Amino acid sequence: MLLTSQTIAADNDRWYSDEQVKLGKELFRQNCAACHGQEAEATPNWKQTDANGNYPPPPLNGSAHAWHHDLNLLRRTVREGGAKLGGQMPGFEGRLNAAQIDSVIAFFQSKWPDDIYQRWAGRFETSDLPSLNDIVVAANRPLTNLLRQRIGDAKIDNVAQTSIEDVWQVQIGNRYIYLLDDGKHALMGDLVNLESGRNITERSRRIAAVAAIAEFSDEDLVIFAARGESKATLNVFTDTSCPFCQKLHGEIEKLQEAGITVRYLPYARGGSSGPGYQQLKSVWCAGDRNQAMTDAKNQRFDSLPAGDCAAAAMIDRGYRTGNKIGISGTPALIKSNGEKIEGYRPYQELIPQLLQ
Ligand code: HEC
Repeated sequence: MLLTSQTIAADNDRWYSDEQVKLGKELFRQNCAACHGQEAEATPNWKQTDANGNYPPPPLNGSAHAWHHDLNLLRRTVREGGAKLGGQMPGFEGRLNAAQIDSVIAFFQSKWPDDIYQRWAGRFETSDLPSLNDIVVAANRPLTNLLRQRIGDAKIDNVAQTSIEDVWQVQIGNRYIYLLDDGKHALMGDLVNLESGRNITERSRRIAAVAAIAEFSDEDLVIFAARGESKATLNVFTDTSCPFCQKLHGEIEKLQEAGITVRYLPYARGGSSGPGYQQLKSVWCAGDRNQAMTDAKNQRFDSLPAGDCAAAAMIDRGYRTGNKIGISGTPALIKSNGEKIEGYRPYQELIPQLLQ
């Protein structure tokens, strides 16, 4: 037998067998390929809705977000399609039996690179969450009619199917609510899977935080790099006028020595009228931002430039991003998996928490 990387993976540590992949390939070509492509690669531009607000068939080869869904949700999507959600995908209930559905899933999962498969199998226990968009349904669907009437023009950012039958998660800014009963009822609170112990709402918050922070490049920020090998990254929303931010900054070398890279994002408490707003602008306009950050944290302002350069726009951007992910005070610490730690932590406590 010819050993390809796929058969090795299948033999080693994937849930399906080579037989299932082979059968699934046939079934996929007959039932799915017209929309999702022969190799499950269509449509590359899957985040773009058409003129009617419909999403195209997303790639199932690991490049889109099919891997955000557990096996049961994947099975259900194939069985029921998207019609219930106002989507375009037909359901295959009655056309494919359970074993056949598992085979088509095995086929498209065989296209997933190993790191994606491992993340799916580990269900987000790894620390590097992706910055993917969990769009499943457009927000203007009948499902959200009543909700939209109730909350006025508040912007619904995302509507996603959960792994629970007929329960949909709606994201409104940094809040998540759940629609039940075809959108007649809304439940506000965290959804927890008691079998796995995972908080599904928290997972969504973390994905959103990681995605929001990923919009900033290193050049946008003030970075205190790890000494030697970087073992962990900590994003810190900071305000130079905040006493606990100053205290944290006083310990920054301890973090760097422990292999932690600290990425500072600006968050002026109180926005443009807050005490740190102008200070942060000056820091971002300085030639040596790291030195300027340290000076400002020590409330030494004599060598800081005026905050009137182009980079000063970052202060408003940081504030908007912080609000978008639900930050209300500083310092706000965001781990690389999107987990939020509110407020100051002494380095003795923080370092083990970041390196675990
Ligand atoms: C007529 C076109 C069409 C066919 C045929 C089709 N799909 Fe889809 N599929 C879609 C569209 C469009 C979506 C996006 C959601 C929606 O609009 O319902 C989708 C979504 C999905 C998703 C969810 C992906 C995600 O990222 O959330 C999976 C899984 C899926 N399809 C699997 C299949 C499988 C397996 C088959 C064959 C058995 C199949 N589809 C056949 C159009 C199709």
